[in-house]
Amino acid sequence: MPIFVKDRIFVLETEHTQYAFGVDENSYSRHLHWGAKCDPADFFMQTFGDENSNHTMLDEYRQEYTVFGSTMYRACALKVRFPDGCREVELQYLDYEKAEDTLKVRFQDRSYPLRVTLCYKITAGLDILTRWVTLENTGDAPILLEKVCSAEFSLPSQKPYTFRNTNGAWGGEGVECVQTLTGGALVFESRRGISGHNQSPYFIAYQNADEFSGDVFFAALAYSGNFKVSASRDLYSFTRVHMGLNDFDFSYTLKGGETFETPKVFFGCTEGFGDMSRQMHKFVRRAVLPKAFAEKPLPVLYNSWEATGFDVNSENQMRLAEKAAAAGVELFVMDDGWFGARSDDRAGLGDWFVNREKFPNGLRELIEHVNALGMDFGIWVEPEMVNADSDLFRAHPDWTYHYNTRTPHELRNQRVLNLTRPDVQAYLFERLDALLTENNIRYVKWDMNRPFSETGAENLENPQMLWYLHTMAVYDLVDRLRARHPQVQFESCASGGGRSDLGALLHFDEVWPSDNTDAIDRMTLQKTYTLLRPVKTMRAWVTDVGGPNKPTSLEFRFNIAMQGALSLGGNLTKYSDADMAICKKNVELYKEIRPLVQFGDLYRLADADEDEFLCTQYVDPEKKQSVVFLAARGTRFYKKRVTLRLAGLEPTRRYRLDFDGNALEKSGAYLMEVGLPAHIRGADYNKIVRIFTAE
Ligand code: DGJ
Repeated sequence: MPIFVKDRIFVLETEHTQYAFGVDENSYSRHLHWGAKCDPADFFMQTFGDENSNHTMLDEYRQEYTVFGSTMYRACALKVRFPDGCREVELQYLDYEKAEDTLKVRFQDRSYPLRVTLCYKITAGLDILTRWVTLENTGDAPILLEKVCSAEFSLPSQKPYTFRNTNGAWGGEGVECVQTLTGGALVFESRRGISGHNQSPYFIAYQNADEFSGDVFFAALAYSGNFKVSASRDLYSFTRVHMGLNDFDFSYTLKGGETFETPKVFFGCTEGFGDMSRQMHKFVRRAVLPKAFAEKPLPVLYNSWEATGFDVNSENQMRLAEKAAAAGVELFVMDDGWFGARSDDRAGLGDWFVNREKFPNGLRELIEHVNALGMDFGIWVEPEMVNADSDLFRAHPDWTYHYNTRTPHELRNQRVLNLTRPDVQAYLFERLDALLTENNIRYVKWDMNRPFSETGAENLENPQMLWYLHTMAVYDLVDRLRARHPQVQFESCASGGGRSDLGALLHFDEVWPSDNTDAIDRMTLQKTYTLLRPVKTMRAWVTDVGGPNKPTSLEFRFNIAMQGALSLGGNLTKYSDADMAICKKNVELYKEIRPLVQFGDLYRLADADEDEFLCTQYVDPEKKQSVVFLAARGTRFYKKRVTLRLAGLEPTRRYRLDFDGNALEKSGAYLMEVGLPAHIRGADYNKIVRIFTAE
C-alpha cells in the first residue's frame, strides 16, 4: 500500500523513498519527512507555541503549504484577496480522499467560501511523485488569487544545500549556475511570458553529491509561462522551496463556482544526480509525454534552416530532400520561409498560406517528392506571432497585446498575438487545422521567437490573467490539433530552448533545445538538458557550424548529436561524396543503437567541463547491451590516459566489445570495477564503443 493515512498523518511511498506530512489540531498542514523509508506508524505531530513575540511558531513550522496571514512572515504559497477586502487565508481541515495512487487533502477557509485541496500522485515502480493544488470558489462573489504556488517543500537537513539551476541565454541555454544557500533567499524565475532561456523552472538541491552518491532533492514545474522557484533558509536553518506561477504581475479572478488547478510539480529524492536523471527520464516517458509517440523511437530528421534559411522553395527543398534521403533520413522538415510574404524576418508571420511564388504548385509537389523518397514531411510554424507587415495584422491590428498609449516594441520585427482572445484562437486553429488536413504533414515544429511586451489585453476583465491564459491557450491549441491529427508529432521550440520545460512536454513530443548547434558547446548544453528531461526528447542536429569554437570534424559532430535524437541540418547539397558516406554510415549506426540511446539508462561517466572529456554510457533496461560515447575537445597535442569504469551492467554477465582494436570479453563486474584503459588523444577525439552480451 503506497499511501498510508492515520490520525491526519499522510505517508506516501515510492519505490525506495517516503514523503510524509500531517495536519495538526489547529489545521496547519505540517511537513514531516522526505527521504528514506521509515515505519509509517512512527510519525507523530509535535505542537509547540510561539518562541517569543518576534519568533512565532507559524514562522517556524515547516508547513506543507503555507498560506499568507496571521503571524506568518516568511514566503507563502498562497495569497488571496476576498471580496470584502480581507487578504488573509485561515484554513480549517475538512477531510481527505484516497485512491490507489492518489491522495487529496481538503481544507476550507474558516470564514470565506474558498476550498483548498492538496493533491498528490504516486507513479508505480518509480521514485517520482506528482503534486498540485486546486482552489475552489464555492460562493458567488469572485475571489482574487494573488499568489498560488503548486508546491512548497521543506528540505530535511538543517545544513545548507547547494542548488543547481541555469543562468543561460539564447544559444547558451544549458549554462549552469551552482550556489550554496546559507541564508536569505535564492530566486529562479521568468517574467517573459515563456519559461525562457535563462533560469529553469526546477530546483536540484544537494549535499555532498556527485553522479553516483549523495543526497539529491529535486522538483520540476510543468509550466511553460512565467514561473518562480524561490528557496530560502531561515533563522532556524530550515531550507524551504516554493514553486509555481510567478506572482509578478499575476492575479487570477476565481469566479463563484469555479475551480483553479495549478500546474503540476514532479519531484523526488535520489542518491546522486545519475539516478535522478534516470528516474526522471523513465517518469517523463511514462507519465508526462503525450502517449502517441512516448514509447516510439523518434525518427532521424533533416531540418532546412541552417542550409536554406528563409530562402526555401520547391526546387531547393527537393534537392535537399534527395540528399537527406540518401543519408538515411526518415523525416524531412522544412523550416521558416514557406508562407505569406516571408523572404526575411520582416514580413509574413500570421499569414499561414503557402507562398505561391516559392511553391507554384503548393506544398503537395514537395511533399509527394519527399514521400516518394521514403521520408515523412514536417513543417515549421510560429503561430503566436505576427509581423506588422502581414495581411493578418493589416486586417486585425488589435489582435496583439498592446496599450493604446504605449509604443509597441518589436523584437525580430514581430509582435505577440493576444492568444487570450477567442477569435485569435479560432483563426489559428482554423489555419493550422487546414494546413494539416490539406497536406500529408507528420511533424510540426512550433516556434516562438520573442518575449512579451506591452501586455495590455482589453478583452480581459482582469488583464493580469493573460500570462497564464496565454500559456493555457497554446497548450489547448496543440491538444486540439493533436486530437484532430493524431499522426502528427509536435516539437516545442522558442528561439531554441526557450520553451523546453516539463509543461511543454505534457503537450509536445520533443524539444529544440538550442539554436547553438556547435558540437563543442553541445557537450555542455546536452548534459544540462538531460538532467531532468529524457534523451529522446532532445533534438540534436549535425550542422556545418564552424562556430566560435574550433571547427570540429563531421565524425565528431555525429558523435555528439547521436547522444540525443539524431538529426541533420547541414547544407547536404555541398557535401562531398566522402562526407555523404560519413553521414550514411552514422545514420545507419544510430538506427541500430537508437533504442539504447532513446530508451536506455543514461550514465554520465565523465563530464566535458570537469573532466576534459565526455563519456556517456547508455544501457538497455535488460542490461544486455550498452553503448559508450567518448569525445574530447582537445587540440592535436592533447593526451590523457584514463581508466573508464563503466556502469549499469549486470556484474555476473559476460560482455563482448571491441576496444581500440582489441576484441575483449569481460564480466560486467570487471568492466565496472576495473574498467577499460583509454588513451584519449589529439584533436576531435571521438569514439563509440558498443557492448553486447556474450551469452
Ligand atoms: C528559431 C529556431 O530556433 C530556429 O531553429 C529556426 O526555426 C528559426 N527560428 C526560424 O526562424
